[in-house]
Amino acid sequence: MDESAIPFWFEDSLLHIGAEATAISGSWMGLDAVLKKREPRAYRHPSLDKKLTRQRLAAEARILSRLQRLDFPSPCLFDVDSEGGWLLISRIDGVPLYEALQNGNAGLNEIKKFGELIRKLHEADVSHGDLTTHNVLYDKAGNLSLIDFGLAKISPEIEQLGLDLQVLNECLTASHYEIDSAVEVMIEGYQSGDSGQTKALVNISAEEVIDRFNAIRGRVRYHA
Ligand SMILES: Nc1ncnc2c1ncn2[C@@H]1O[C@H](COP(=O)(O)OP(=O)(O)O)[C@@H](O)[C@H]1O
Ligand SMILES: [Mg+2]
Repeated sequence: MDESAIPFWFEDSLLHIGAEATAISGSWMGLDAVLKKREPRAYRHPSLDKKLTRQRLAAEARILSRLQRLDFPSPCLFDVDSEGGWLLISRIDGVPLYEALQNGNAGLNEIKKFGELIRKLHEADVSHGDLTTHNVLYDKAGNLSLIDFGLAKISPEIEQLGLDLQVLNECLTASHYEIDSAVEVMIEGYQSGDSGQTKALVNISAEEVIDRFNAIRGRVRYHA
């Protein structure tokens, strides 16, 4: 793809080559920005690949603009071309929580805040789909922001909300096992993030989601 074809975009450096997308740091209209490009996957049928790419990008763009309207800490959507397979978003000045936890710059306090943030996301009627500590950025002021909404859903089922907690549970137990009671503290945060408002977009309470998470966790254990 010819990046010069993207209006107002100036590429700076490569951030990350993922399984599905490449993230590049740069500027857009003078603002700090990230370009996410979905690359064609050789193992997929070309027309199916194109369709999936288009759907995921469109979903990610829709969810980012929804979250922006709700003042949720996540990147702003600058521009998107789902046919072209790219998305331009604001760059957040932070490090993945994964790293901050590994090098001791973050701990249980941030894990609890992460739990609160997930509840806030769920109350915005959105499930994330890939909630690992790589997809939350931690800035110098101590704030957390969520990124990577390619697998997110609007109006998810309770199962998808429970699965968000289960994916994070697996990440915490596999990658951050040295942090004692990380999962319990994350769940505590999730519970305390419950606004308890009946007018929230979602009428599935934190309690119900945690019950579902425990059921999923039991299922996984039983079959392991
Ligand atoms: N808005 C952003 N601000 C700063 N860094 C970002 C931003 N978006 C992505 N990144 C960096 O690029 C990496 C990959 O982006 P991500 O959206 O998670 O795509 P992938 O689907 O490849 O995981 C992230 O882990 C993060 O380090
Ligand atoms: Mg990611």
